[in-house]
Amino acid sequence: MCELQLRHITGDARARTFRERDCANQNGGGHKRKKLSEPEDGQQPAQAPENVELALREFWALSSIQSQHPNVIHLEECVLQRDGTVQRMLHGSSSALYLPLVETSLKGEIAFDPRSTYCLWFVMDFCDGGDMNEYILTRRPSRRTNTSFMLQLSSALAFLHKNQIIHRDLKPDNILVCKSRDGIDEPTLKVADFGLSKVCSSSGLNPEEPASVNKSFLSTACGTDFYMAPEVWEGHYTAKADIFALGVILWAMLERITITDTHTKKRLLGGYVQRGTQVVPVGQALLENPKMELLLPIKKKSMNRRMKQLLHQMLSVNPQERPDAFQLELRLIQIAFRDYTWET
Ligand SMILES: Nc1ncnc2c1ncn2[C@@H]1O[C@H](COP(=O)(O)OP(=O)(O)OP(=O)(O)O)[C@@H](O)[C@H]1O
Ligand SMILES: [Mg+2]
Repeated sequence: MCELQLRHITGDARARTFRERDCANQNGGGHKRKKLSEPEDGQQPAQAPENVELALREFWALSSIQSQHPNVIHLEECVLQRDGTVQRMLHGSSSALYLPLVETSLKGEIAFDPRSTYCLWFVMDFCDGGDMNEYILTRRPSRRTNTSFMLQLSSALAFLHKNQIIHRDLKPDNILVCKSRDGIDEPTLKVADFGLSKVCSSSGLNPEEPASVNKSFLSTACGTDFYMAPEVWEGHYTAKADIFALGVILWAMLERITITDTHTKKRLLGGYVQRGTQVVPVGQALLENPKMELLLPIKKKSMNRRMKQLLHQMLSVNPQERPDAFQLELRLIQIAFRDYTWET
């Protein structure tokens, strides 16, 4: 099964999403086509260089990964379309069709004929179970699901960081769910939406030496506020920002803490700090008061002592006190194993 994802990269920044079921493919499986962004009905597409940048970042990150991971969305193929011309995109492409897009992304202004319509098609795994918000919040709490999701997400993050990719927008909306075939196993999660991701290049000192994502400093403040680490708000951060975001997600999953999206009114998994009647993102609260002590767990039996300690470290104001993705994966395996042996 695969997904064809179409981005009108010259379209309106306010994306509209629809999906339609296409005919069955030769193997008998279905495939779906998804159009992520299109101009408002009857209107000319507004030229938006940021749409080009989001689409290219997604392509750069996903095409830079040489191997596959079960919990990271897999890009099967990427196709660039300009009006009637279609071209397959490969990592390191430098075609005449593609270069104006790179220029647009770098300059932040449209560097091609504004009358052209560019589309970037992403053919990828199709996730049939919605996103992590929908999955978790429409089911009763399950320790088994929680453990499985924690292991899958930490494994995905270790894989991405090993491949020098910092996601920068980890949140339950961007974690998609593939339902299990037998309905007995836990579903498979896929980390998706690499539109804000950053592929770190080799260190400046020695081009042969691969970059350590935990030492590559980035300065573009981006992400979604409730999951943003304190140092991201300041614009000086590393891959440890992804660890913080995952900390907020896991904390919210274990304790079923939700926030409401002000635009869509959708309930989302996300931890926060309560200040009077105000709901403040954890990273922002820590930035304003680095000595603030996070009161977690909120519910007595939602996690054991080890998990509590790990979450406190993941949500530490100092990125160096957070585990890296490899340590995190190992710690979660140890916690899961102890829970399992204790239960049996
Ligand atoms: N491979 C996929 N399989 C199934 N659904 C998908 C897939 N990729 C994306 N989607 C759906 O499209 C939504 C948006 O995708 P994505 O997060 O990649 O783009 P986005 O730029 O964040 O767009 P939006 O602003 O609409 O969230 C996802 O939340 C999901 O519902
Ligand atoms: Mg998204």
